[in-house]
Amino acid sequence: MTSSLTLDQRTAALDAIAGEIRVCTKCPLHQGRTKAVPGDGPYTADIMFIGEGPGFHEDQQGLPFVGASGRLLEEMLAVIGLNRKQVFITNVVKCRPPENRDPMPNEMGTCVPTYLNRQIELINPKVIVTLGRYSMGLFFPNAKISAIHGKPKWENNRAYLPMFHPAAVLRSMDTMKTQYEIDFKKLPGLVEEALKRVKPATPPHPLAGLDDSPAAEIKDTKAEAKPSAPPDKPKDDKPKDEPPLKQLSLF
Ligand code: URA
Repeated sequence: MTSSLTLDQRTAALDAIAGEIRVCTKCPLHQGRTKAVPGDGPYTADIMFIGEGPGFHEDQQGLPFVGASGRLLEEMLAVIGLNRKQVFITNVVKCRPPENRDPMPNEMGTCVPTYLNRQIELINPKVIVTLGRYSMGLFFPNAKISAIHGKPKWENNRAYLPMFHPAAVLRSMDTMKTQYEIDFKKLPGLVEEALKRVKPATPPHPLAGLDDSPAAEIKDTKAEAKPSAPPDKPKDDKPKDEPPLKQLSLF
């Protein structure tokens, strides 16, 4: 159970996974990569964004969402008072597909259980945001992004929020941007709700109400029940409004 690991243990495990990803040769994508892209952000993040796969710039730098899509992501995070250093950002596949083509079922089928699922388990985010249809397909099989974007589902006190891929919003010449902002604005409330769900109601102090008792002075410490254990894709960065051919199930 990773929830019983200390932060140091989780950090060591996540660093080890990043190390494995950087030298991974488990699928053909490694042949064309410059750098693998394990993910970026604090291991204690409440929110995890999952994109599709690295594009040109990500492959060069070894960091996710550092091109035009990443700039839009940062702009949207700023709308809700966050920046990218406060969230964990990663992708379904960790190496760039050639010419930014869609990731193939065998590539996702290797990368997701080997790396993404372990990252999710160790980081244990309160909210997972899927960016685009491949990431969405992991948690919302057969769904259409146009129908479910911005509509969270809850599982085990974690919210899953499907969102458009930023590249699709960029291609829309701003027509989708207002909706994107509306979807992003749901995030703080979802984190708050997730925190409430894992924190049991504080039982009243047995001496509460006895005004003369020194115990009445004792402040409610509200112990936290479970500090939860745990070219940007250039022109052809092309999440489509269709589910992936083969859906993968995470759990
Ligand atoms: N698009 C993605 O899906 N992921 C990235 O990291 C960059 C662009």
